[in-house]
Amino acid sequence: MKFHDITCSQCGACVRECGPLREAISLTDNGVRIDLELCMACGHCVAVCPNDEMEHPLSPRQPLMDKLPTPEAAAMFLRSPRSVRFYKQEGASREQLMRLLDMGRYAQTGVNSQGISYLALDGRDKLEALNALFCETALNLMPEHPEIARLAEVIELQKERKEERIFRGAPQLIIALADKDHPRPRENAQFSLTFIALFAPTLGLGTCWAGYFEALAIHDRFAAPFWKFLDLADNMRIRGALMVGIPDVEFRRLVAREPLRVDWR
Ligand SMILES: Cc1cc2nc3c(=O)[nH]c(=O)nc-3n(C[C@H](O)[C@H](O)[C@H](O)COP(=O)(O)O)c2cc1C
Repeated sequence: MKFHDITCSQCGACVRECGPLREAISLTDNGVRIDLELCMACGHCVAVCPNDEMEHPLSPRQPLMDKLPTPEAAAMFLRSPRSVRFYKQEGASREQLMRLLDMGRYAQTGVNSQGISYLALDGRDKLEALNALFCETALNLMPEHPEIARLAEVIELQKERKEERIFRGAPQLIIALADKDHPRPRENAQFSLTFIALFAPTLGLGTCWAGYFEALAIHDRFAAPFWKFLDLADNMRIRGALMVGIPDVEFRRLVAREPLRVDWR
């Protein structure tokens, strides 16, 4: 089906909203017509319709928006989440994790390309096995790839201190996946994982970016051992990773950052 027709009061709000994006909506005799081949399913037309008349087959109607928090409450929400490096023994429940990951779907993506799915590695024993594979892979690759030499330091430290340093002893790891042919996989994975990281504290969970792991795992030239370990489908690639668990640390204060720097012209 190429077109979807809607009978409506023709206020034109959806036509205007779609204009700068796709011009996929046009007025008809008694309503509007959506060209579904042009449409990128962003849902702006559904969200903007003042009469709740827009029914879009690619963008089902969602609840009305609630009042936004105050700027002060929003600032607190955005500044509160910290990287968690101590986790309780038990992990998040699968129900909690599903609720958490669900939020990742709402991050903005270029041309509404979306396309991120998640693999949840659940259990310290599995993360420990992945840690061992990470170290082995990194040490094997290092002689030929000086660009990953910095990983030697953390591997050495982990051995010396007998502390889990790659995943910080987290019980769970969220791995963002995308198809190997996805046009913007890394940005989409990072934004989705950022939504997840920001939402986590509201569920009593903490997260930390798995930057060491990502240093190998998001690069296809290094990542084959991880694809095998994780039993990924042939077309899927790792595009980001975040440790998750119940924090065993409490942060009481906000922290400072570098001062704001803005140039005006
Ligand atoms: C892309 C990225 C990768 C990171 N990788 C790691 C990591 O591998 N291990 C770790 O302990 N922290 C990691 N971090 C956490 C940073 O060290 C942390 O964000 C920074 O020190 C600021 O602290 P905060 O997140 O608590 O505000 C990473 C952060 C980002 C954004």
